[in-house]
Amino acid sequence: MSDSLFLDVCAGIHVPEKPVWLMRQAGRYLPEYRRVREQFPTFLDFVANSDAAAEVTLQPIERFHLDAAILFNDILVTLPPMGFQLSFESGKGPVIQNPVRDIRGLEQIKFPHLENTLSYTREAIRKAKKRLPGSVPLLGFAGGPLTVASYAIEGKSSSHLLETKKLLFTKPEIFDAFMQIITEFTGNYLLLQAEWGCDALVIMDSWAGHFCKEIYRDFILPYTRQIVDKIKSVTKMPLIHYANGASHLLSSVESLSVDVIGLDWRTDISEAFEKYPEQVFQGNPDPSFLFTEPQTVRRQTEILLEKVQDRPHIFNLGHGVLPETPVENVQVFIDTIRGKC
Ligand code: CP3
Repeated sequence: MSDSLFLDVCAGIHVPEKPVWLMRQAGRYLPEYRRVREQFPTFLDFVANSDAAAEVTLQPIERFHLDAAILFNDILVTLPPMGFQLSFESGKGPVIQNPVRDIRGLEQIKFPHLENTLSYTREAIRKAKKRLPGSVPLLGFAGGPLTVASYAIEGKSSSHLLETKKLLFTKPEIFDAFMQIITEFTGNYLLLQAEWGCDALVIMDSWAGHFCKEIYRDFILPYTRQIVDKIKSVTKMPLIHYANGASHLLSSVESLSVDVIGLDWRTDISEAFEKYPEQVFQGNPDPSFLFTEPQTVRRQTEILLEKVQDRPHIFNLGHGVLPETPVENVQVFIDTIRGKC
């Protein structure tokens, strides 16, 4: 047992209380976040300011007393050091001016020392850790290799990942070489976050669900496995894997040696418990349920509690908190889990 509920549950220990944190817990739904966000012209300026990043990392902990903090950062921050011209445009999300589509795209990639180019992450971790209560672990994270690669291939958020799939099917050697580069960066970046003071790590593969089982297993999973194995060969730190829209990929994800599997909201959590009784899961209600009335939020949370029973489980949503979410309903969700409602 440690003094952290979250770390105990990651280790599969049965504890009476239930740990909860939220993907995108620091975000636009919080007025205190919007006040800090306003001070920066761009999202990347904001992330690179370690005082501001530490401040917003702490905000949801101070407001809700959650059981884990997640570093305020983004999965795409490894792309600019590699030479990608990344910006976040309002209403459009991430935009990359020089996407990779061919051998020339691969040749333009730079291999800098992440210790130097991402030293603001080290500072943000140091400042956040200094202010966090000892019982609240800090989570570091990175995107799954497919998700980060797909932004760099598409050049923007894309609903069909057409360029990524075209590259995979028509120029598999370029796709593989690029995935291998992203895999190295991602593994190194996660290990740096561990070295810099994080207590657990999360891999977020938001676009994995766009692929069928066989393609995921043969062309994508091996890269994620390399990252997981590399981390596990160096540290015992808990590792969480989250993939979105990925119920059909659960058997593949389960074959990774991760401590916790984050389930997206489309997954039937009872089926997952039944199929993998030894696995610790995280999740998984649909973030939109927080837009209903408090009594519905309470009822839906009670249904989840009934399904989880006394299993070691990490409460969270099945994807990130949406920007317009009513803060009161987030409070009801957390209070119901903790039996205060
Ligand atoms: O609280 C936390 O969870 C920590 C911070 C965090 C952010 N992004 C901050 C952020 C985390 C863990 C992420 C992960 C992330 N970023 C993912 C994986 C999880 C997921 O949501 O599927 C992905 C795909 C991204 C890429 C990304 N970053 C997009 C598509 C966008 C634009 C969409 C949007 O919500 O505006 C971002 C920007 C971003 N990253 C914001 C935040 C709070 C919003 C920007 C702002 O406040 O101006």
